Parts: sequence; structure tokens; C-alpha cells
Amino acid sequence: MASGIEDFKRLAAERAVEFVESGMVVGFGTGSTAVHATRAIGRMLRDGRLKDIIGIPTSEATAAEARKFDIPLTTLDSHPVVDVTIDGADEIDPALNLIKGLGGALLREKIVAWSTKRFIIVSDYRKRVTQLGTRAPVPVEVIPFARSPVTRYLESLGGRVVERVRDGATFITDEGNIILDCHFEGIDDPFGLAQSISVQPGVVEHGMFLGMASLAVVASPTGIDLLSRA
Ligand code: 5RP
Repeated sequence: MASGIEDFKRLAAERAVEFVESGMVVGFGTGSTAVHATRAIGRMLRDGRLKDIIGIPTSEATAAEARKFDIPLTTLDSHPVVDVTIDGADEIDPALNLIKGLGGALLREKIVAWSTKRFIIVSDYRKRVTQLGTRAPVPVEVIPFARSPVTRYLESLGGRVVERVRDGATFITDEGNIILDCHFEGIDDPFGLAQSISVQPGVVEHGMFLGMASLAVVASPTGIDLLSRA
């Protein structure tokens, strides 16, 4: 029975792992929801419900969690096609467009998702929005050298830019970059904004995942919804 947000996260992840089959290459997402999928797959490998899974982690933190369960890990060099990836999100709109990256792993997450046949999002009900940008900022991963020009450029696009700080210091991603969180308070044209952000030199990647998710598994007090992209 679910009583709190943590339970909804776990229930969504445990439902999503039902789409994983023995022999698959699996992308392991990052964050407090996706970690439940990593743990569930780890348990299923241990008790024999799954066999011959090989995983591609989307962050160093996720790799460490997978190693706790002795899940074999690989890279996109050895396994360029991922059968299924299970990851979290910070916003999910009705077309399954997403904002991701509040956990700081958006770059590797997007690379893995882009290489994936079936990209499944797991979430509690709070992440569903009618319009992107109304609940979460758009994280933009930036080369440190380009901090100032990219900040000015993102402000010119209408964003309120806040450089991400963790434990009192600039947050540094697994790839050695910084993150600029851009608050837009509602994004009317996500595809246009994504394109505008991408053209600026120094921007490595942004946290809008558009047209990529094929399924969202969302747990709420009324049950688990499976939302497919039309
Ligand atoms: C990390 C992410 C996460 O999937 C996203 O931030 C959701 O995290 P959580 O499940 O902890 O709310 O994109 O880069």
C-alpha cells in the first residue's frame, strides 16, 4: 500500500521493470525514482526472475548503485543500442515531453535515451504538468568557460538564470561542466526554445527531452497510470 511520495516512486519503478526481459541491454536512469528500478532489477537478477541483463548507467551515482547489486555494466561503445531505459523526470506534459536534469545527469541521460528503443519514464503524480516550465526550471549544461555569455544569452531568451550550487559550491556534472537552471514560468514553444538554446556555443545540452519518451508510468493515490505517446 502507498502512503507517501517515496512509495509512489517505488511503485512506479516496480511497475516499469515489468517491461524488462532477460537478455536485454538496459539503461539505468538517475534520481530518487529511477534508483528503485535499478534496485528492483538487481533483486530480480539475484533471485533468477531476470537473466543476462547488461546495464548502461546514466551517472556515476547510478553505476555505484548497480554495482551494489552486482549488475553487469557496459558502455555505448560495446553496446550501442539499448533495448529499454527507465529514468525519472522533473516534468511530464500530456505529449510525454519532459524536463529532466534536476539530479544533474541530463547529458548522459539524454545520450542513453537517444540510443534506446523504448524510453520509459517513472514518476509520482506530482511531475505531471499541462505545460512545460511551470514546475521546474530547464537545466542547461554548460562548459565552465562559457558561463557568462551563455547566461546572458539564456536571459535574452526570457529565462531567469540561476547557476546550480550544491553544498555551498558550484555543482559540477560527471562530465566536468556546470548547470544553469533557467526559469521560464511556462514554455509556449518547447521545440523552438530547445533549438534556440542548442545553437549557443558553450551549451553542451539542455534538459528538455522532446518526443523521446514512449511510455510514462505514473503512480498516484488512485493507482498507476501507463501513459503512452500518441
Ligand atoms: C536526473 C534526472 C532525474 O531523473 C529527475 O531529476 C527526477 O529525479 P527524482 O526522481 O529524484 O525526482 O533527470 O538528472
